[in-house]
Amino acid sequence: MTTRSKFRLPLRRFAILGGIAIAAVVPGSTSAHKDPVTPELLKAYEAVFMEQVRKGDLLFHGDQRTAEEMGVADDLSKTGMACAMCHPMASDTHPQSFPKFQAQMAKFATLRDMINWCIEKPNQGVKIDPESEAMKALEAYITWSNTGSVLQPGKF
Ligand code: HEC
Repeated sequence: MTTRSKFRLPLRRFAILGGIAIAAVVPGSTSAHKDPVTPELLKAYEAVFMEQVRKGDLLFHGDQRTAEEMGVADDLSKTGMACAMCHPMASDTHPQSFPKFQAQMAKFATLRDMINWCIEKPNQGVKIDPESEAMKALEAYITWSNTGSVLQPGKF
């Protein structure tokens, strides 16, 4: 009895937070987390994702206007090299292998750590905020480009 009531409150809070998250993605939606995801909602989620992929694609190919719009105009590269010149079609970015021990950094690293390593080292740029819109867009593009790769965290 006492154990049960201890767990009730956090669960309710979780359900409320889930509802808020969905409402934020689809304005006007008040559905709770447990409601089935409708085809319309799935379409809306996919549109949000593909918009990030599109922005990340442009950043990855060195599009200056997109970099300016996303506040990373002078950060991503100082050599004139875009990510795509060394990683065509996001090749060799291995998002499916993170997190893993990264020898170059001598630490256990995330994909975002490695994106920043490439910005700082080969590109001689300035590290970007790991929580920034630009980082999320780059992550979306890299992940989308490697669709179908089997998760192998810690590998290669
Ligand atoms: C001048 C060439 C060059 C450019 C430009 C470049 N990279 Fe890299 N990238 C590398 C090299 C070299 C490695 C290390 C490969 C390794 O050791 O696995 C690497 C590794 C990576 C990895 C990790 C792969 C893994 O499995 O460890 C990611 C992610 C990555 N780069 C993303 C980017 C992004 C994003 C950009 C643009 C901001 C970028 N790179 C620009 C050369 C480049």
